[in-house]
Amino acid sequence: MAVESAGASVAERVRAVVEAHRDERGALLPILHGIQAEFGYIDPEVVPILAAELNLSRADVHGVVTFYSDFRSEPAGAATVRLCRAEACQSVGAEKLVADAEQVFGVKLGQTTPDGSVTLQQVFCLGNCALGPAAQINGRMYGRLDRTRLVEILAKGAEA
Ligand code: FES
Repeated sequence: MAVESAGASVAERVRAVVEAHRDERGALLPILHGIQAEFGYIDPEVVPILAAELNLSRADVHGVVTFYSDFRSEPAGAATVRLCRAEACQSVGAEKLVADAEQVFGVKLGQTTPDGSVTLQQVFCLGNCALGPAAQINGRMYGRLDRTRLVEILAKGAEA
C-alpha cells in the first residue's frame, strides 16, 4: 500500500478506523487491529497518520506495532505459519522446528518469503501444549510437528 499513490482514500480509510475507536480507552490497540483488518497489514506509511490523529509520536505508534507479534508491517503470505515457542513446546523441540522452518523457507520469524507464499510468525502458547511442537497454519491448529510434516502440510495447502 502506498499512501501517496493511493491518494486520500487510504488516509480516509485510516481516519474512519480511528474515528470508530477514538473514544475507547487505550484506543491505539483497537485502532491498530482495525487497520490490520481493513488493509491486511499495517503499512509503515500509515504510522504518521495515526500519530497525528492520536497526538502520539511516530516512535510510540511504531513501538506498539513492532512489540505485538499479531501486527504485520507487510502483507502476509498466502500461508501464515505461527510457531509456538512457549515452554511446553520448547521442551519437545519447538526451537528446532523454528530453525528448520527458517531454513526451509529462507526467512526469519516475522518475515514473508519473497514469493509471498509463507509468513513465519512466533506465538507463545496456542493451548495445544500436549501436542507440541504446535503451530497454527492459516488459523488451523497442528500438533507434533517436525520439519517433514510442516513442509507436507504447506505443500498440500495447509489442509493435511
Ligand atoms: S506451549 Fe505450545 S501450545 Fe502451549
